[in-house]
Amino acid sequence: MKRVLIAGATGYLGHFTAIAFKNAGYYTKLLVRNPQKLKTYPVYANEVVQAEITQPETLIDICAGIDIVFTSVGITRQKDGLSYHDVDFQGNMNLLEEAKKAGVSMFIYISVFNGQAMQDLAICREKERFVRELQSSGLPYRVIRPTGYFSDMNDYYIMAKKGRVYIFGSGNAHINPISGKDLAAFCLTAIEKPETAPEVGGPKAYTHNEIATLAFQSLNKPAKITHIPAWLCKVVIFLMRKLTSSKTYGPFEFVATMLTKEMVAPFYGSDDLLEYFKSLKSTGKSSPTK
Ligand SMILES: NC(=O)c1ccc[n+]([C@@H]2O[C@H](COP(=O)([O-])OP(=O)(O)OC[C@H]3O[C@@H](n4cnc5c(N)ncnc54)[C@H](OP(=O)(O)O)[C@@H]3O)[C@@H](O)[C@H]2O)c1
Repeated sequence: MKRVLIAGATGYLGHFTAIAFKNAGYYTKLLVRNPQKLKTYPVYANEVVQAEITQPETLIDICAGIDIVFTSVGITRQKDGLSYHDVDFQGNMNLLEEAKKAGVSMFIYISVFNGQAMQDLAICREKERFVRELQSSGLPYRVIRPTGYFSDMNDYYIMAKKGRVYIFGSGNAHINPISGKDLAAFCLTAIEKPETAPEVGGPKAYTHNEIATLAFQSLNKPAKITHIPAWLCKVVIFLMRKLTSSKTYGPFEFVATMLTKEMVAPFYGSDDLLEYFKSLKSTGKSSPTK
């Protein structure tokens, strides 16, 4: 039985990836900083190890006997005072060092679609810095480059529930968001394929206006959308970069940029965004894991 170490299983993608590996017959070892979080939703694991990826002394020999390392650890909305450099780069570097020591046969890392071209954004800069280290590590690797996740579309749903969706720019840029389940399946298939840095998105591309409209549709509400001029976002990003740290401006500049760029990657999967929004309505949660 092949053994996989999964870091990030308490998050949206990692949760689905842990299930996908387990269902595919792997021995799954989860690296988590807070095991309590695993109790809030079912994750299938053979072993759970409590460690802190940003503290290398807690990771010693964590990859012993492991064939595949998968990491989706990264800052999305966490407010724990750490920077993209601390977590997305250095945390994953700490894990990579252990993987090299153990000589694992594959290291899988999640970056972002078009991340190489967006290194003016703090998050992409640190992710791509890690990608370069992984590529020169000597280990077989896969860098997965997804577009936005269904979970990232939750903001549309939450705003629609309140009655109005606000969109930076015209809302006419396209994206094909992918569900955690479909992306997890893609990550497993990528192991067997030769491409080392595949790009991937969901089965259908929408404009952001269409996604907002779907969110209203799932709630049986009339669509009310307000567009915030792109020039105003640029001014706000400029000021935030001057006046705040990347912990504050990073998530804002990332989201604002995503909304105005074409983000359509090769199509994959079958999960439907409208059904996802409807599932949020029926469960009353804004995401399966958040
Ligand atoms: N969301 C998107 O649309 C999107 C698109 C492309 C790429 N990505 C990338 O895909 C990856 C996974 O995204 P996601 O939506 O699944 O993220 P998520 O739900 O926020 O999960 C992030 C995971 O990283 C862990 N983590 C964060 N900070 C940590 C720290 N300081 N120490 C230890 N663990 C830490 C979290 O652990 P805790 O549960 O303990 O906080 C969680 O398990 C991220 O790197 C993200 O940048 C996301």
